Amino acid sequence: MTHIKLFIPGPIEVSEKTMRAFSRPMIGHRSKDFQALNAAIQPQLQEVFYTKQPVFVSTSSAWGVMEGAIRNLVSKKVLNCMSGAFSDKWFDVAKKCGKEAEALQVEWGQPILPEAIEAKLATGEFDAITLIHNETSTGTMNPLAEIAATVRKFPEVQFIVDCVSSFSAMRIPFDELGIDVMLAGTQKALALPAGAAVFTVSEKAYAKAATMKDRGYYFDFLEFRKNQESSMTPTTPSISHFYALQSKLEDIFAEGLEARYARHLENAKVTRAWAKERGFNLFPKEGYESITLTCLSNNRNVDLAKLNGLLRTKYSCVIDGGYGKIKGTSFRISHMGDESTENIRQLLGWIDDCLAGV
Ligand SMILES: Cc1ncc(COP(=O)(O)O)c(C=O)c1O
Repeated sequence: MTHIKLFIPGPIEVSEKTMRAFSRPMIGHRSKDFQALNAAIQPQLQEVFYTKQPVFVSTSSAWGVMEGAIRNLVSKKVLNCMSGAFSDKWFDVAKKCGKEAEALQVEWGQPILPEAIEAKLATGEFDAITLIHNETSTGTMNPLAEIAATVRKFPEVQFIVDCVSSFSAMRIPFDELGIDVMLAGTQKALALPAGAAVFTVSEKAYAKAATMKDRGYYFDFLEFRKNQESSMTPTTPSISHFYALQSKLEDIFAEGLEARYARHLENAKVTRAWAKERGFNLFPKEGYESITLTCLSNNRNVDLAKLNGLLRTKYSCVIDGGYGKIKGTSFRISHMGDESTENIRQLLGWIDDCLAGV
């Protein structure tokens, strides 16, 4: 099978080194070897989360933890900040969990701003808020630090943040920002195979979870914490993801966190400049563009299926033809994970070549 290189915003390319780690032989999940593996990755995971709290690897995709956070923490009413396909869906998921939920909806591509959050939380109706830091469907990044400063004014509110497609691509200091749950998927900037998520939880959130009778079992935050005390997991985990994560953390610290963040920013800048030079508008409001992917408006009416077909046959790669209700009227180029700026420049050259043929 030809290897088609993925420049879609997740899953993304996984290096051979990571795949080798991922395919190491199994070990028992109740063995000393597993405990040693799990314990070995803790300090580095905590460093990337900027936290003293334990960090968990969940054998579920991000949605498992996103739903789990609702079940662990919402007893009164949750405010769902909505600005794209994933954040809009969180509102539906909260309701499907039987919770009272309210939408704070902005137009896709617009950011969620702290003032709007403050007005809602000041009503005193809410005990939790969900926010997607980097809305992958629209390539829009919300101003997390400013929002966190606002949410901190409401200590009764649990701040649940999806950093699924921004984690490890920029500094997101969990403890300092006062976040209560922060989660990420493995198939995004971490450049691991899909199928697992990483997350951490604040003391305030554990205390709330302890009061919740119907928080379930699989995503019970207290179960995760109790097991992690002996470097264990509540259930049989995807051991392969632990190996792959160990290998990836090695790479991340070999490059250095700051260098990694700078590379992601540079990739984004190069892609945005290229888009503008080619006459494409950027989909997100100016100043709120994602640093891990670029979402372009298809204002040139390019036949995106044809473009991707050419990229696939000529260059064995694909980009993304848009997501949800903006599929076709927008498209997305991912530049997260292991991609160097040279790789991104090469990709943009390939797209130029294929654009000439559509
Ligand atoms: C921002 C964001 N949140 C949540 C998800 C859902 O992740 P998963 O399908 O891996 O559960 C995605 C997937 O692309 C995403 O981009």
